[in-house]
Amino acid sequence: MSGSAMSLVNATTPSSPLTKSSGIAALADIARGLSSFECPPVRAALSRRSTIALGVHAGWAGTLVRAIDLPSPGIARSRLQSEGTGSVPKTLAGVTGEQISAYPGVAFSAVSPDAEQPKPVNKDLAAMRVGYGQQGADGRYDDADLDADQLSDGWLPLMRRWLEDAVEAGVPEPNAMTLGTVDEHGHPCTRTVLCKGLSADGVLFFTNYESDKGRQLESVPYASVTFTWVPVARQITVRGPVERVSAEVTDEYWHSRPRGSRLGAWASEQSRPIASRAELDAALLHAGERFPVDVDIPVRPDWGGILIRPAVVEFWQGRANRMHNRIRTSQAGGSWTVERLQP
Ligand SMILES: Cc1cc2nc3c(=O)[nH]c(=O)nc-3n(C[C@H](O)[C@H](O)[C@H](O)COP(=O)(O)O)c2cc1C
Repeated sequence: MSGSAMSLVNATTPSSPLTKSSGIAALADIARGLSSFECPPVRAALSRRSTIALGVHAGWAGTLVRAIDLPSPGIARSRLQSEGTGSVPKTLAGVTGEQISAYPGVAFSAVSPDAEQPKPVNKDLAAMRVGYGQQGADGRYDDADLDADQLSDGWLPLMRRWLEDAVEAGVPEPNAMTLGTVDEHGHPCTRTVLCKGLSADGVLFFTNYESDKGRQLESVPYASVTFTWVPVARQITVRGPVERVSAEVTDEYWHSRPRGSRLGAWASEQSRPIASRAELDAALLHAGERFPVDVDIPVRPDWGGILIRPAVVEFWQGRANRMHNRIRTSQAGGSWTVERLQP
């Protein structure tokens, strides 16, 4: 069985060799019963939403079923992967501990969530979807429908509120945003950056001006950023012209950064190829020697802030049946218009 097994829950020596078909049946039965299985390590693994690995040790060469991934505790919804010989049962449903012990030769392992388990992601992608918005029994949502009147004071107050809501909801890296730029061929490029300032002037992030994004924004000074907050079913996109911020603004942020981050900025020629990890580590060591602990680390001259001045801001709120709310505000001729878009 592959994966780093945390604990072997039940492994018995076969009293009679399993056949291929009885092995498949055994595994199907076991998978069916995992939600009611009393074994503490299995239950613990389930509650951590980790992977349960099942394998048949006897009867034919190789492991039949490699992993059953249970996305939420107590749910026998499963992803099965066959390995080597044997096919995989399509439907899974329940057994008890006693039933499990009736299958000699079947081993169970609770596998740590980060164990290397190849998963049939491609097959599952088309089936992956979540419904948005929390609806009560009466069909009402627990948050008000996004509407144009929420933008009566402009885009900034609502954007601030949504950012705060994302923080409060515990969204990881709530200030992370996907930054889109275009390269010299007019091809779009995206990557994640952190929003480090939000004001009436716009959205601010920091980077290396000589990086790919830095150079691209130098030649086409227009960007698009998207904040995606899936747990609260919201998204904001901001588009507009960009400009470098003043040395004072960069300096203030630079000196708020931990020493390691400042050294890292000196050590990395961002976006340029490097031969090995070892070379990168050596560059950091070198930066540490160059700027000893008691010495101020100056701002790297080609590093600084970029401000996106919003020309278009779109707020998106997830709703059932893909009937989402989209409100877009855009600036034209000095005034802002607000309109609802179809989802
Ligand atoms: C969560 C997250 C936050 C990031 N924040 C920044 C950032 O604020 N500034 C930055 O230059 N790169 C940041 N990066 C790295 C970029 O995504 C990217 O790899 C790097 O800037 C090089 O991009 P480029 O080659 O397109 O210029 C972040 C990556 C992640 C995943």
